[in-house]
Amino acid sequence: MHLFDVYSIQQINITKAKGSYVWDETGQKYLDMYGGHAVISIGHLHDHWQKALKDQLDKIAFYSNSIIIRLQDELAQKLGEISVKEDYSLFLCNSGAEANENALKLASFHTGKKKVVTFSGGFHGRTSLAVAATDNPAIIAPVNYTGDIIRLPFNDEQALTECFAKHGTEICAVIIEGIQGVGGIYEAEPSFLQCIRTLCDQHGSVYIADSVQCGYGRSGSFFSHDIAGVNADIYTMAKGMGNGFPVAGIVVAPKFEAKKGMLGTTFGGNHLACVAAIGA
Ligand SMILES: Cc1ncc(COP(=O)(O)O)c(C=O)c1O
Repeated sequence: MHLFDVYSIQQINITKAKGSYVWDETGQKYLDMYGGHAVISIGHLHDHWQKALKDQLDKIAFYSNSIIIRLQDELAQKLGEISVKEDYSLFLCNSGAEANENALKLASFHTGKKKVVTFSGGFHGRTSLAVAATDNPAIIAPVNYTGDIIRLPFNDEQALTECFAKHGTEICAVIIEGIQGVGGIYEAEPSFLQCIRTLCDQHGSVYIADSVQCGYGRSGSFFSHDIAGVNADIYTMAKGMGNGFPVAGIVVAPKFEAKKGMLGTTFGGNHLACVAAIGA
């Protein structure tokens, strides 16, 4: 069997990592300025992080979300404090795309509406609605297309205001990166984020802050959206959350009512993932 050849890869086989350095199979040492696709935020394999994962492996690695997992409560508590969103709730999953899927789904459940406003240059993942919301036709399969995505120019308050005037009763969510990552490093203007907040409030729509790449302490505030001085309704997170271990989540404002079974995942928030996130 061969690998399905979908990645444009560098011809380097990294076999070891420590702190800011990685080594290939020939022993060549590199200063890692890339962090494995923005996944490593504080350097590879810090001693306390490595030890916490090893200790957890000796106890239990995984159990499904059918039992109490106290590590999830500990992570939620810590995240609430560090992000200063103590009154928000946490739902855990496995990847950035999955976080955005869950955020969009929750927004639609909550509002009963289905149109999603997204922006030029935006990237939100490769799964069904997340990829439909992404501005890259090359990665959107015919099955992903939906008439419910409205793509507007980035940072254009007038276009956004006109869109809400026309479609406000149908818009369930606006999804936006605080700083676009894949699309190039373009910041959302604070006034644009404030405009999103105001229009979402006026029209009963949900403001989703895709913080998968720009969040988690990467911009000087915990979520880059904080710079605008407004709260989003849902923050999506992944990448640096587990410092390389696959873990993701959404942080949800108190106004959302959780109903049994409305969201769910097998692996999300497992013991090892929580320990990775707590240690990161
Ligand atoms: C802003 C943003 N959202 C979502 C995603 C998707 O994350 P994942 O690759 O973990 O599914 C990415 C990945 O690059 C991203 O940069």
